[in-house]
Amino acid sequence: MQVDIEAEILKTLISMNVRGARLSEPKEVPEQLLRGLEALEPMGRGEPVVVEPSRGSIPVTLQGSGVGGLALGTAFEGAFQRPVELTLEDIRGHIAVFGSTGTGKTTTLATVLSGLPSLGVNFIALDWAGELSKLIDNATTWSPINDGGINPFTDGDLRSSPELLLDVLSSALDLTQPQSYIVMRVFNDDMPRSFRELKEAIESYPEEARWDRDVKRGLMRKVAILANSKFSGLFNGSVELDELESRPLVVKLDEIESFTVRKAYALVLLAAMFARRTRERPVVVAIDEAHNLFNEDNDLVGHIMAESRKYGLYVALATQSPSAVPNSVLLNANTKVVHALRSLRDKEVIAQSMNLPYDMTNALDKLEPGEAIVQSPTIVTPVIVKVKLSSPRRNGLSNPVVREPVNGNANSPL
Ligand SMILES: Nc1ncnc2c1ncn2[C@@H]1O[C@H](COP(=O)(O)OP(=O)(O)OP(=O)(O)O)[C@@H](O)[C@H]1O
Ligand SMILES: [Mg+2]
Repeated sequence: MQVDIEAEILKTLISMNVRGARLSEPKEVPEQLLRGLEALEPMGRGEPVVVEPSRGSIPVTLQGSGVGGLALGTAFEGAFQRPVELTLEDIRGHIAVFGSTGTGKTTTLATVLSGLPSLGVNFIALDWAGELSKLIDNATTWSPINDGGINPFTDGDLRSSPELLLDVLSSALDLTQPQSYIVMRVFNDDMPRSFRELKEAIESYPEEARWDRDVKRGLMRKVAILANSKFSGLFNGSVELDELESRPLVVKLDEIESFTVRKAYALVLLAAMFARRTRERPVVVAIDEAHNLFNEDNDLVGHIMAESRKYGLYVALATQSPSAVPNSVLLNANTKVVHALRSLRDKEVIAQSMNLPYDMTNALDKLEPGEAIVQSPTIVTPVIVKVKLSSPRRNGLSNPVVREPVNGNANSPL
């Protein structure tokens, strides 16, 4: 049988019919490709097919066709593109999105979050800068100021975890060791029921040594910020976490002007979710601009990530600099989405933690906005992905811009 067929048409046929197909550069065209096509036709999903022509080879592998995953974007492989998905296993591993400023972190977080409900996972997004809520269509917006707050001292689960509550306060207020010690003593004596009561208890804390007075004063100054009646609504509400977790939610942290109060509110919410050990439905807590919640000597976020999987609480965070992230956060984020990084130190940290080959490490500072190197429990070999936009109407783009891959290999003989 003689069939004349253009190489370009063959390429299109294969890429249209075989999800995830990847062709090496064949030596002979089109005869080998024709044989490849014959073998591909009856192929079911999931079975890798290797066609062995007389000379050269056309290996076809299916990757990333995970059943029930959420669409993250498109990977470039040579002249081909294939969809890349994150599975429940990848989400359970916690997700960290890195990238220098303006490289696409928040957009990626929004894309991931938008796909979660289809996997039966809810989310609560801590929208530090108010950027996430603009990108997510399918969530309720929660206004901490108008919709109510959460009282860390009366929330049942937090109240029965005083050590966690102490960690929250130490992180939120950057307490020194002696200051934390006084708070611990106050908690042990009689657990307060509000920041105002905590402030009063510290005020009447007995000064046993000369330096107690200075420590107390410093501590009072910090606690007074949260005890301020201006913020009483934020920390005196009786928000039910059950209710918050029952639907996709974006928490507008940006409404809270004070940095310290914003950080405290975010940490209280995060800790309350963590303290709630049982839940029927898994939930992702997303943290944009997560560096605002990290502390050098009190690594609450990393601690929560290490422990929370078994309670069905998964973290998805976005932050600029992997080298400034506490080690425990880096170690506990098994799914990494890395946008362009400019600093050498950041590139080194990522290259090491993801075991990147030389060409990918080199590509790290050349990625365009929206492009990222992705690795996860199910995407073991790092791959460059163009992340899809969560909502096509954003930026006025009706279609994501498709551009040439950055990892070369664009000049396929096809
Ligand atoms: N997946 C994408 N596809 C196309 N364009 C994108 C994509 N992601 C980001 N961009 C472009 O890059 C810009 C910055 O994106 P984004 O705000 O998500 O970055 P960021 O890393 O969160 O920035 P910042 O450091 O300021 O928080 C967007 O306005 C958009 O123009
Ligand atoms: Mg951002």
